[in-house]
Amino acid sequence: MCVEMNLPSQRGNALTHRMLKMTLLETYEKLLEELAIPLGGEMVFRFCDKGHNHSYLPFYQGYFEPKKQQATIIEIGVMTGGSLLLWQRWFDQVKATGIDLRAGYNETFAWQQEIAADYHWATDTTDAKFIPNLAPVDFVIDDGLHTLAGQWATFQNYWRFVKPGGTYFIEDIETQLNADLLRDRISQRLGDAVTIEHYRGHTREDDQILAVTRKIK
Ligand SMILES: C[S@@+](CC[C@H](N)C(=O)[O-])C[C@H]1O[C@@H](n2cnc3c(N)ncnc32)[C@H](O)[C@@H]1O
Repeated sequence: MCVEMNLPSQRGNALTHRMLKMTLLETYEKLLEELAIPLGGEMVFRFCDKGHNHSYLPFYQGYFEPKKQQATIIEIGVMTGGSLLLWQRWFDQVKATGIDLRAGYNETFAWQQEIAADYHWATDTTDAKFIPNLAPVDFVIDDGLHTLAGQWATFQNYWRFVKPGGTYFIEDIETQLNADLLRDRISQRLGDAVTIEHYRGHTREDDQILAVTRKIK
């Protein structure tokens, strides 16, 4: 396993310098190399899809870069925990919380032991009756239920956990119409207390993401 970023003092200054300059996408690609497993005669990646199936990492880079040294993150939708591992490798220090409807990872892998997240399993983020008691964070990432209703309900339940200056990301918005509707609803609800950025990635229709940043008063 690659632990250079976590143990820089063991690897020398030159390497540390180089590793610290890795982009999120480069870190992701390095993880894919490490974590590919054989299946049906091929090497496949049972990992997060933020880099290749979708194309969010260059977009995230702009938001994450100022918080590279230290960040707090809530990720909704853990699956195997691949994204949590990526954040842990890329940030110098990250305190992450993972929330999922499932009662645990959907598959277990040895590398999950490296992830130092707090988990809230069996938690439906669309349900206002079961919102965990969490401290506000720099970034909330909704990669859970990707329907319009699910994304809107989750936003209403978890927006409260975004710090001033922090950003709430809604990933995998299924259509342009859904992106427009979400943007309108958020604008109506929060007005000029937020800035909203919409990013449309490559050819997939659902490769769309909204970033809602809480302005610092
Ligand atoms: C696309 S996967 C998450 C992938 C992960 N973020 C990554 O990049 O490695 C979606 C996850 O959301 C979870 N999920 C679906 N609906 C949910 C809900 N209503 N509340 C919480 N989690 C949900 C699923 O169980 C699944 O594990």
